[in-house]
Amino acid sequence: MAHLTGQERARYVKRMFARISRRYDLLNTVMTGGRHYAWRKRATRMAVEGLRGPALDIATGTGDFAFDLARRPEVTGVVGLDFTRDMLTLANGKANRQKLSNLTTFAAGDAHALPFTDDQFICATVGFGIRNFIDLPTALREMVRVVRSGGRVVSLEIVRMEGRGLMPKLLPLHFRYVTPWLGSLIARDREAYTYLPKSVENFLSATELDQAMRDSGLQNIRHKKLGLGTVAIHIGEKP
Ligand SMILES: C[S@@+](CC[C@H](N)C(=O)[O-])C[C@H]1O[C@@H](n2cnc3c(N)ncnc32)[C@H](O)[C@@H]1O
Repeated sequence: MAHLTGQERARYVKRMFARISRRYDLLNTVMTGGRHYAWRKRATRMAVEGLRGPALDIATGTGDFAFDLARRPEVTGVVGLDFTRDMLTLANGKANRQKLSNLTTFAAGDAHALPFTDDQFICATVGFGIRNFIDLPTALREMVRVVRSGGRVVSLEIVRMEGRGLMPKLLPLHFRYVTPWLGSLIARDREAYTYLPKSVENFLSATELDQAMRDSGLQNIRHKKLGLGTVAIHIGEKP
């Protein structure tokens, strides 16, 4: 991956998510012991509490974050955006089955150039997506741009572990060896689930992501670690 240009990396990521799209939800559930549902619900509550209006979910994949947002009374409608069309097809099917099509719209687009005017949404969320962005500062600035003043940018993401304890040593090993094995067993795609631990190793720690959000112009930044410190919800407000 290191030898690829930004555009080549984006194409690689898009093809990879298209390949695993139909097994994505199942693997998420197996790898997190089903906790990913509770994590998104918690992030959703933090994103919208005390606000009212439309919400945006970026890198929406099969739409679970968008559906959690749509179920909140504060939210009047949700746009879910992703650059992988196979994911959006699955999201639309789930919206119909969950009777949420009237509240959700799924659109194709890139996180680095959001197809929306400024100051539209009460929040922009992204779940397990920003680790894959080729230019995080640009994508964060785009999220800030489309959120209205007082609105929130929220990320739920696997972060690089920091600290000296046993967990920061053991969990990356688990990721490196168990995740590719699960990926080949369940999604029959060892390569995609070898990419996952590598992308975490190359990603930011929770404290570094705080700083990246601050640099994008957000304020009141805080994070909450979950899943033994492997995952974090980050939240910041647009001034
Ligand atoms: C790991 S999935 C996350 C799906 C969902 N948000 C969730 O919580 O499970 C990552 C998604 O990000 C999308 N993605 C990655 N880079 C993107 C970009 N630059 N613009 C839009 N979508 C992107 C992929 O297509 C994929 O569907």
